[in-house]
Amino acid sequence: MAKDVLTFLIDNRDSFVSGEYIAKKLGISRQAVSKKVSMLKDDGFVIQSKTNRGYRLMSFPDVIVPEYIVLETNFKPVFHHETIDSTNLQARKFALDGFPERTLIVSEVQTSGRGRMGREWQSPKGGLWFSFILRPRCIPSIAPLLNFVVANSVAKAMDELYDINLKMKWPNDIFYEGKKLCGIGILVSSDIDLMHYVVIGIGINVNNPSPQSVDSLSVKDIVGKEVDRNILLANILNKFKEEYTLFERNEFDKIMGYAREISNTIGHEVRVSFLGVEKRGIVTDIDDSGALMLEEEDGTLSKILAGDVDFLRHL
Ligand code: BTN
Repeated sequence: MAKDVLTFLIDNRDSFVSGEYIAKKLGISRQAVSKKVSMLKDDGFVIQSKTNRGYRLMSFPDVIVPEYIVLETNFKPVFHHETIDSTNLQARKFALDGFPERTLIVSEVQTSGRGRMGREWQSPKGGLWFSFILRPRCIPSIAPLLNFVVANSVAKAMDELYDINLKMKWPNDIFYEGKKLCGIGILVSSDIDLMHYVVIGIGINVNNPSPQSVDSLSVKDIVGKEVDRNILLANILNKFKEEYTLFERNEFDKIMGYAREISNTIGHEVRVSFLGVEKRGIVTDIDDSGALMLEEEDGTLSKILAGDVDFLRHL
């Protein structure tokens, strides 16, 4: 396995690291290091080699590198699959088996990806499909705020990396110019007064062509070129760390302040459906508990905690 050498190269990727140093640290010969570097090059890693200076990692192939994610974020362990049915299902199994908070599962392809309300979620190569476990020490009633913690993290990461302003459709769809870019699915297991675990599942169309069936688009369509999915994933997870700290400190006003800033739902006429019941009206606000405030046609003000939103007409 060349992964041990890769970890050194990632750790020192802004500079050259000598073959002799790596060999000494790993207790192997310089020839063995050189062989492992060749293997990494064959796998698509671009590595510069210079006499007397050693090796320098220039870029990754378009595949998620768990070693990079572990070094760059506080997520661990990281499980990376070529193909899996659904990272959400796998994360749930791991959660039941007692895996810790911030266990991360990423797959290049999902064969049975699922969206909200059990809908199919197309997950071809080139996208980011991942799930992670949380074990929040809080009452279950505040779990819906996690929708905004996650949506804020994705929006902030994309803004910082690519200078694109994303919008959030309540409660957690991420849109760019009216088209869906990212979906967030959250599964909560709890008693009435105690959370057991939460699985956060995030799907982002990145370098894959966006699905034809829904009005969606990919990051590459916005940025105009393929982007580095390792950097994007690490950035989202690091933004999540910051947003989740606000959640743990009960600083919900800060979370919801940003969520309202990026909302494309406030001020619009919508239909909200939940378990076969529909309500129509104008969204006047999203409050600090994450609830949608809907002014219905007869003037009634409803506080809506869960549901699917459809835009009826822009005001
Ligand atoms: C939605 O918008 O309906 C939510 C989509 C969530 C998709 C992600 S992809 C990774 C994880 N695994 C799944 O099966 N679903 C989530």
